[in-house]
Amino acid sequence: MTTLWIFFIFMNMDGFLKIAVCKETRDQVLIITPTTQEQVDILKNVTSQYETALWQPVSPVYMKEQAEVHLFVPGESFETVTSLLQDHDITHRVSLPNVNELIEMQTMNGTDPRSTSTFYERYHRLEDIYDWLNRTAHDNPRTVKTILVGSSHEKRPLYALKLSFSDRPNRKAMWIDCGIHAREWISPAFCLWFVHHSLSFYNYNKEITDILNNMDVYVLPVMNPDGYKYTWTTNRMWRKNRAPSHNPKCVGVDLNRNFDANWCTEGALPYPCSEIYCGAFPESEPESRAVADFLRQHKDSIQLYISIHSYSQMLLFPYSCTLEEAGNHNDLLEMVQEAARKIRTFYRSTYKYGAGAKTIYLAPGGSDDWAYDLGIKYSFTFELQDRGEYGFLLPPSRIGNACNEALTAVKTIALKVMEKTQAPKSPAAV
Ligand code: ARG
Ligand code: ZN
Repeated sequence: MTTLWIFFIFMNMDGFLKIAVCKETRDQVLIITPTTQEQVDILKNVTSQYETALWQPVSPVYMKEQAEVHLFVPGESFETVTSLLQDHDITHRVSLPNVNELIEMQTMNGTDPRSTSTFYERYHRLEDIYDWLNRTAHDNPRTVKTILVGSSHEKRPLYALKLSFSDRPNRKAMWIDCGIHAREWISPAFCLWFVHHSLSFYNYNKEITDILNNMDVYVLPVMNPDGYKYTWTTNRMWRKNRAPSHNPKCVGVDLNRNFDANWCTEGALPYPCSEIYCGAFPESEPESRAVADFLRQHKDSIQLYISIHSYSQMLLFPYSCTLEEAGNHNDLLEMVQEAARKIRTFYRSTYKYGAGAKTIYLAPGGSDDWAYDLGIKYSFTFELQDRGEYGFLLPPSRIGNACNEALTAVKTIALKVMEKTQAPKSPAAV
């Protein structure tokens, strides 16, 4: 009997310990609002000294009074970080109390038999995206080709798909890239969504049919495969590529600071440990160099460049690397305004829009600005859902909605580009 009792107590102890331990090892996301410069400085220190990942802003240099900071805090540092915030009276609340569970939801991938989600409403590991690329090209031999654009630092191939629904010579084209930043999983999901939509609705949906009749589309679903792989295996919060630096502790270049557009000026940093490290020189990274080379080789046909990121719901255009206005600023503004209006009407979501530098922050070395200066005068960066509720951990159940919003924007803008660049039809035989 006594043994039984002891056994019983032990079982309960175990349960009790589990709960206690569980609470402090949970990773969480905090929303913090510093109100004074002193609080800003403390917060900067906290994020650099403790194991945390800054979600917003992307680097401590952008922190300022009254601006929300979204901070991922691993279980190990949770107690320390929150008591520091409390000690200094810094306003904060938990926005995601159980990050681990959210991550599990995104990576389980269809093991739940009740789930009715399709392939395109889930996130996929890198290998599965490579399989999908091959399958898509194989199943659509007349319209889809894979193009090897280059390879990553760790020698993974960078494959783009070329969608081409007509073989008229001198066709115009558009380019879409996804997954420059590894942790923005909704981005590659969008590239897959877009290709699927194009292949399924050509001849059924008027807008996509008009677009594909007029131009070829290049889609690069994962521009940063090494980083993306790393977010699945090791660190879900990884942003940069995986190139080592001279400091063995600090890995990775921010590929969207590595292009030759006011490279490494204000808004980027020359330090390998920073999340916005610009690299050793412009196009120092094989990933950005490959895309830049491809765009240079095809600049006469490519009229429209779109780069997909998350999160914050914004439709941005050049410049981000200077406060100066782009030459066709008003055209670009009109396009994103119309796209945002449609998204609001169809999906009741609000997207901010405007020139990057004035809408978010100065951020030099971006692909959109570089493509613009190359001569692709319709150049955009979209920041997809959400506005911070789930941030980079957007649940799979929201993929469809997020992608449809972005699809609306892509279509609206592509149709406007066609309108602006096609010579007005002159009446025949006048
Ligand atoms: N969140 C994106 C980034 O930090 C914004 C990109 C806007 N365009 C740009 N050229 N910076 O890279
Ligand atoms: Zn990004």
